[in-house]
Amino acid sequence: MKKIKINEIIKKKGKEPIVCLTSYTKNISEILDKYCDLILVGDSMSMVLYGMNHPREIKLDTMILHAKAVKKYAKKSLVVFDMPYKSYENKYLAYQNARKVLNQTKCDAVKLEGGKKIVKIIKHLTSKKIPVMGHVGLLPQKVKKFRTQGKNFKERNKILNDAISISSSGAFAVVVECVVESLAKKITENISIPTIGIGASRYCDGQILVTEDMIGLNNISAKFVKKYSNIRKIIEKSVKMYCKDVKKRRFPSFHNIYNYK
Ligand code: KIV
Repeated sequence: MKKIKINEIIKKKGKEPIVCLTSYTKNISEILDKYCDLILVGDSMSMVLYGMNHPREIKLDTMILHAKAVKKYAKKSLVVFDMPYKSYENKYLAYQNARKVLNQTKCDAVKLEGGKKIVKIIKHLTSKKIPVMGHVGLLPQKVKKFRTQGKNFKERNKILNDAISISSSGAFAVVVECVVESLAKKITENISIPTIGIGASRYCDGQILVTEDMIGLNNISAKFVKKYSNIRKIIEKSVKMYCKDVKKRRFPSFHNIYNYK
């Protein structure tokens, strides 16, 4: 299986949609790897996997453990590590932590949230050969409440300029989260790197969703999430059947036991 390179992701801009999803675990990673160009070990694991109240609560070392498993089972896709809150406050800290992440997890790149303010940090990391993915629009590490971005002129301009700065700072792609469709289109048309949308319309060069949202495991109802299955229901049905079997002593049956012979 041939590993996807960063250059191949960049070349897809305007030609072929880039398929991305999140993974925090071995099993999901194994499945996604067959279909995705890029797998993100997102800090969304804070809320989705650990039931924390905010992405700010997840620690770098916790994410590193998950990323090791994800990367080990992703042979083809590009694996990007989402740098958690306070792990890239200045260029020195960002470099120290990004190095640690890439050394320990073998991930291919890191993702940083922010616009103009983090340009210096991205430039520093890329000058040290650390591939970076940006993230503009709604910034989950910064906000208390999730709301659509770019609904007024000032906000639109700020986000567009943020995306332009990220693009010219050396990042190879940028996540555009929860912005109005016309802004996503404008950003995509005005920067040279691929835009990866989440709640940002079909005009982006690629799409990403949190896998647990997309398969209906995480109980979230957001307009931008399309639920492709209801895994929660399937799990519940299986648990119910198991429960009944145990109570009626139907499990384990002779198929599930060990004998001398
Ligand atoms: O943490 C995450 O999962 C993300 C994606 C949703 C883009 O940042």
